[in-house]
Amino acid sequence: MLNVALPKGRLGEKVYAMFEKAGFECPSIKETNRKLIFENPEKGVRYFWVKPSDVAIYVERGAADVGVVGKDILLEYEPDVYELLDLKTGKCRMAVAAPREFRDDTERTLKVATKFSNIAKEYYASLGRDIDIIHLNGSIEIAPILGLSDVIVDIVETGTTLRENNLEVFETIVPISARFIANKASFKFKNEPIEKILASLAEQTKG
Ligand code: PRP
Repeated sequence: MLNVALPKGRLGEKVYAMFEKAGFECPSIKETNRKLIFENPEKGVRYFWVKPSDVAIYVERGAADVGVVGKDILLEYEPDVYELLDLKTGKCRMAVAAPREFRDDTERTLKVATKFSNIAKEYYASLGRDIDIIHLNGSIEIAPILGLSDVIVDIVETGTTLRENNLEVFETIVPISARFIANKASFKFKNEPIEKILASLAEQTKG
């Protein structure tokens, strides 16, 4: 049985359709209920929906053999997994944003609010800029408005959240997209189905 961790939400549904195309369908997943685990013994596959930021934890510890996770999570937590393929979907970017009137005073320590502390630290270290990280768990956009921070480091997809809070992007740190990942031992011991999915996903994301 191949265990697949999918990120709950729109991205997960899109990705499930790709796995289905790869020959690992599981019709019961389409039933509308609040169940989180679905399996199709005939195809030897079991899917489960998890919080997008938890997918890598399941895969790293072997509770899932494979999964789909945003590159942001891989950069932030550096889980010990194989990153097998860029699925070229779930595209967004990691960016520095601030109120329009913000001007960086390099004499002062920059206060940075973020959920992605490691990405922010690494980015500013590469610029040789002194920062003070304020780690938050969500609604990051509020921080500069209330004076909790000077800037934020966060994910920008459509830019709507920034716009509606009078913030704008100052710098893009890195482009982000969804990645197909595998547990290292599973990649060895369940190589056949994983390679089969990988080949189909690669074909589906080509061009
Ligand atoms: C992310 C991010 C922004 C928003 C950006 O939050 O933190 O708030 O999406 O998207 P946009 O550019 O299309 O407006 P997410 O919805 O993932 O949830 P979160 O509040 O848990 O961070």
